[in-house]
Amino acid sequence: MSQPPEIESQRQRLEELRKLVNYHNYRYHVLDDPEISDAEFDQLMVELRWIEAAHPEWVTPDSPTQRAGAPPAERFVKVTHPAPVLSLGNAFDEAGVRAWFERIAKLDGRVLQSEFVVEPKIDGLTVVLHYRDGLFVQGATRGDGEVGEDITANLRTVRALPLRIPVQPGAAQAPAYLVVRGEAFIPIAEFEAMNRRLEQAGERTYQNPRNTAAGALRQLDPALTASRPITLLTYQILAFDDPRLSPPQSEQATLAYLRSLGFPVTPAEVCHDLEQALAAYDRLMAQRDSLPYEADGAVIKLDSLELQASLGFVGKDPRGALAYKFPAREVTTLLNDIGVNVGRTGKLTPYAILEPVEVGGVIVRQATLHNFDYIAEKDIRIGDRVLLKRAGDVIPYVIGPVLAARSGRERPFTPPEVCPACGQTVEHFAGEVDWYCVNAACPAQLIRNLEHFVSRSAMDIVGLGIKIVEQLVEAGLVRDVADLYSLHKEDLLKLEGFAEKKADNLLQSVEASRSRPLARLLTALGIRGVGEVAAADLAQAFGSLDALMAARLEDLQTVEGIGPNIAQAIVDWFERPGNRQVLTKLRAAGVWPAAQKVAAMGPAPLAGMTFVVTGTLPTFSREEAKAFIEQHGGKVTDSVSKKTSYLVLGENPGSKLDKARSLGVPVLDEAGLRALAGESHV
Ligand code: IVH
Repeated sequence: MSQPPEIESQRQRLEELRKLVNYHNYRYHVLDDPEISDAEFDQLMVELRWIEAAHPEWVTPDSPTQRAGAPPAERFVKVTHPAPVLSLGNAFDEAGVRAWFERIAKLDGRVLQSEFVVEPKIDGLTVVLHYRDGLFVQGATRGDGEVGEDITANLRTVRALPLRIPVQPGAAQAPAYLVVRGEAFIPIAEFEAMNRRLEQAGERTYQNPRNTAAGALRQLDPALTASRPITLLTYQILAFDDPRLSPPQSEQATLAYLRSLGFPVTPAEVCHDLEQALAAYDRLMAQRDSLPYEADGAVIKLDSLELQASLGFVGKDPRGALAYKFPAREVTTLLNDIGVNVGRTGKLTPYAILEPVEVGGVIVRQATLHNFDYIAEKDIRIGDRVLLKRAGDVIPYVIGPVLAARSGRERPFTPPEVCPACGQTVEHFAGEVDWYCVNAACPAQLIRNLEHFVSRSAMDIVGLGIKIVEQLVEAGLVRDVADLYSLHKEDLLKLEGFAEKKADNLLQSVEASRSRPLARLLTALGIRGVGEVAAADLAQAFGSLDALMAARLEDLQTVEGIGPNIAQAIVDWFERPGNRQVLTKLRAAGVWPAAQKVAAMGPAPLAGMTFVVTGTLPTFSREEAKAFIEQHGGKVTDSVSKKTSYLVLGENPGSKLDKARSLGVPVLDEAGLRALAGESHV
């Protein structure tokens, strides 16, 4: 039966949108080289969802909308792997690697001439991905190597995973049946950013990337998996079947082939002999801390898959590959005591005071203990021998006590009832795990508060580092953030290390910060849950501090990203007498950003555009121009590239103008910018 033409064209648009979304998703998550802005991408998804909502019968499991769609499952179903998902033998030093090489060379002389491939050994969760005719049909955990658990719905949410091959027109066709193995993990930077967001929202943070990724993939609710920044790298074909095609015969060819199908693949170095493989290990080892993921070693593989197969395996370890581990970053040491830090928001955080110990070349004396619940859950006691881990850039943390080493003399820890810095009773907020000191005059908080207030993303008071902050507080010159604006030169000159020039410079940077836009001042105030993003949204929605102070709980919650907890924290903050006093002082000191235009609801006129500003504009400062562009949905970057939509030009521009001209980037003046943003005249 033929369809009416409008239905037919919607159907075509749907197909087109799926291809576009898949393609841009691949550019972003696999190639790390996006061609369109996030806003443009979101627009494609909105249109796709809209068509699918009108035609639910058209929704297919490989539609990009289905990445986060499935309802929670009751339990996991077992999956038998098409081939054993093997493990790896380990070596811990060069001698171990050479011994392995000699063993296998004796078994098969071809080893002596063999090439090697060296890859990072990624510390993630092994996943097994099944494709039929290019469609992702099933994904499983490794399990015992023979049988794993079906986590298909969770894996669908991983954006780097191709749901349909080819991911882009013209790319390689998929074989009829293909099973690929890889590691799913959370990149370190994403992990840290996620923890910062959780921290700001007053929620519990996660311990380490590996457990967080594994936990999110091995639980039953795909929506939760979707909310974690999990990504993927693949390196092995476990099964391949196609009457027209034959599978790759070497490690190198496997990686190239997987890449051509649209999979993200592990980086690999091809080595002509064992010496080169050892050198490749050294290079990886040197990069260990700057790799974007946690790696616990290098995997050295014989390049020829035929040779690997003919060597067979010992137990579950194939002879043709070896894990050469990095020096351990897990050690045990004594927990001498538990200290408690008071953060900027008054949050109390316990930390371990350790018997100093070397972990991966660094002496560690302190480590995080996350929160008081963690100490109780893990039953960590003072005097315990504890297992400690330092991985990548992640702050060292205590994994747990070594129970076998208990003598019976260890002491359980009791969380403090009063703030260790000021002695005031600590408080607990409903729905939060942490304890807080709510004394606005608490000296520990004041120092952290000031540190935050002057920081780059807040008021950006250049030259006011932690040392000076401490000096100012100790000398009693600063009792709250507003006092920064009434500092006098003669007071500064009395401080150690201050001479004319240093005092002048400091006063000048304080002065320069008076005119920071509202979003920055809001960030600077350090309201619980209000980081840079929330501050920008609030500034955009309310336009002035006066309007924000007058906002009710329900007004605040109309702002996207402001939930009931943060809204309550904002209201509470403005109600506290100490904070009101600070605001009165700031207003008197002229630190009170002028009301700005409240952004109209609806599509932002500059959405999807990227701007670079150069030279002196007639009325806007650089910061104000940036705020203006962002308020209207645009983005501002520092350097001109092909992707720049417009260069905003003021007087005395720098080399950016030449660059823009050479790339054909259009140029606007301030009036042009305002017009583009929908202001009819200046
Ligand atoms: S190759 C026969 N390559 O490490 C092939 N494994 O201790 C055997 N792993 O669970 C695996 N990165 O999942 C290989 N680049 C890499 C890897 C890797 C991480 C995992 C693997 C296995 C474990 C072995």
